[in-house]
Amino acid sequence: MFNNKLFSMNYRRGNTLCVLQLWGSACFQHIESYQRRSLAPVHYAPRSPDVSRADDQYLSKEKSMGIMSKLGQQWRKPTGSLGRLLLSAMNINHSKLTDWALSHISIGRHDTILDVGCGGGATVQKLARIASEGKVCGIDLSEESVKVSNRRNKQLIKTDRVEIRHGTVSSLPFSDAMFDLVTAVNTHNYWPNLVADMREVLRVLKPGGKLMIVGGGYKGGKNANRNEKFAKLVNIPLHSVNELSKLFSMAGYADVQIFEEHDRGWICGTGTKPL
Ligand SMILES: C[S@@+](CC[C@H](N)C(=O)[O-])C[C@H]1O[C@@H](n2cnc3c(N)ncnc32)[C@H](O)[C@@H]1O
Repeated sequence: MFNNKLFSMNYRRGNTLCVLQLWGSACFQHIESYQRRSLAPVHYAPRSPDVSRADDQYLSKEKSMGIMSKLGQQWRKPTGSLGRLLLSAMNINHSKLTDWALSHISIGRHDTILDVGCGGGATVQKLARIASEGKVCGIDLSEESVKVSNRRNKQLIKTDRVEIRHGTVSSLPFSDAMFDLVTAVNTHNYWPNLVADMREVLRVLKPGGKLMIVGGGYKGGKNANRNEKFAKLVNIPLHSVNELSKLFSMAGYADVQIFEEHDRGWICGTGTKPL
């Protein structure tokens, strides 16, 4: 039987995804023509450990750059209706990458977990399903991400299984040694000072706890050229397998492991807080 409501929901969802797909491919085409025409020089601004000021100063510098770079900023810190749309798309698009990464670690039923740069909250929800008697916190720099994550995890928040906070990785609003696991999916490239920020994560991990950093793009793998262009455009660093491994060690992690899915262009690094 024809279901009008279902049809209109699917129709709307289809339209949204279609718009996002067109937007995505327009982005990458534009990146290439942008680079050919050299409309604006690409600057690598020095990163400051002073988080919110660094992020805000950085964003204001970017105002002078073109439209594509402005769209790139949405990945860094989603805002407004475009940000909301992107967060919904990322919840879908990052799901397989997140499942692949989570397959490399073991998560206990009672674990306390933090997802940094939680975006639209899909990873928080996945983690809460696995740690079914534990607690999952999410934190994000963007107020829009916090709103979308809160909406997505409404039921889990009601029962105190999930909590979403607004804040930065550089100064986590949590006490020392609180978490068994900290996850970070497609966000570490945007952190103002990666090693210092990884040390801040180390502070909130319990001894023996793990940090897992996941990237759907890195210096290497199938999409290396495309990633390099995107990274230049939005002014973010990319790391190779060796570089990511070194960053973990520099930040004080032990048992560092880097997993690479070359044909999909995925990377996942894990490190443990020494006992
Ligand atoms: C590309 S999105 C990824 C979101 C989500 N993890 C996912 O996989 O869909 C990057 C997210 O990291 C957040 N972010 C960027 N810099 C941050 C920082 N310094 N501290 C906390 N979150 C940050 C952004 O606001 C954004 O929501």
